[in-house]
Amino acid sequence: MPDDDKGRVIGKVTNVSADRLVVELHRGNDNFTVVGFDDVHYVARLGSFVLVPVQADYVVCEVTGLWEKDPQSSRPNQSGTEMDKAASAKFLDLTPLGMIRSNAQAKFEFGVSVFPPLYADALYARDEDLDRVFQVADPCNKVVLKDRAGTGHTGTIPVSLEVGTSVVFKGYPVKVRIDEFFGGHVAILGNTGSGKSCTVATILQSLFERPEEFAARGASFVLFDVNGEYRPAFSELPDRIDRLYLRANTEGSTEDLMPISMGETASN
Ligand SMILES: Nc1ncnc2c1ncn2[C@@H]1O[C@H](COP(=O)(O)OP(=O)(O)OP(=O)(O)O)[C@@H](O)[C@H]1O
Ligand SMILES: [Mg+2]
Repeated sequence: MPDDDKGRVIGKVTNVSADRLVVELHRGNDNFTVVGFDDVHYVARLGSFVLVPVQADYVVCEVTGLWEKDPQSSRPNQSGTEMDKAASAKFLDLTPLGMIRSNAQAKFEFGVSVFPPLYADALYARDEDLDRVFQVADPCNKVVLKDRAGTGHTGTIPVSLEVGTSVVFKGYPVKVRIDEFFGGHVAILGNTGSGKSCTVATILQSLFERPEEFAARGASFVLFDVNGEYRPAFSELPDRIDRLYLRANTEGSTEDLMPISMGETASN
C-alpha cells in the first residue's frame, strides 16, 4: 500500500458479499470522525465514498448505512437500551460501485471485478479520488487554432466547469464535464428567489469570460429572456463574443435591440 494510503485508513472490511461490504471503524473514531493527514473527515455521511484497495487498484464504495454495536452484545443495538457509546464498535455498510485502477490515466469503471478480502483496509476518499470517479480530473486540452486571418493561436479548451460546492463531500468543488452537460438536458430547480436565473447567468459567464482559454468557441446559445434579466448579465462579455438581442412584439415580428450599456435598465 502506498505510504499516503496508510494515513487515511479508517477501518477494516469485516463482511464481504456481492452487493454489500461492512467496514468496522478503528476504535478512537468517535462520532464517525477520522483525523486524516490533510483534514478531519466525517465518514458517516450517507452517499459519501470510501475506497478499499485491492491489489494495486481501488474498489470505490458508497456509504449506504451506519450502525454501532455494544461490545457486550453480539447483535446491533436495536433495543433502544443504554449503551456505552465510547466503547461501542462502529460500522459502515458500503455498496460497491466500481473501480479506479492504479494507472493514473485509467478512467473510473463501473462494476467490481475483484472484491476485497476480509480485513482489507478501508480509506476515506480525497478530492483527487472524487475527481477520478466523476471523470473531471482531465486537465484542459491544449490546442492550436487558426483565426480568420489564418494566424495560429495556442490555447486550452477546458474539459470541466465548476458549478458549486458539494454538501455530501465537505468543501469539494462540484464540476461537470462541459460536453456532457451542454449535450444533454439539464434542469435547475429551486424555490422562487433561490437563485436559478443567477445560476444560469453565472454558468454562461464563466464559459465566455476566459480570455486565456478558447472557451465555448463555436458554441451558440438562445435565451428566452422573458423577465429582461439576461441582457444586462451578458452586457460585459468580451467584444469577440457576438451577441444579438431581439424583442418580439405582439404582431409577431421582431426588432433589433442594441447591447445594453451600463446605466440602462433591464426593462428597455
Ligand atoms: N449565490 C448567491 N448568493 C447570494 N445571493 C444570491 C445568489 N444567487 C442569487 N442571489 C440573489 O438572489 C436573488 C434572486 O435570484 P434569482 O433572480 O436568480 O432567483 P430565481 O430563482 O431565478 O427567482 P425566480 O423564481 O423569481 O425567477 C437576487 O437578488 C440575487 O442577487
Ligand atoms: Mg428567475
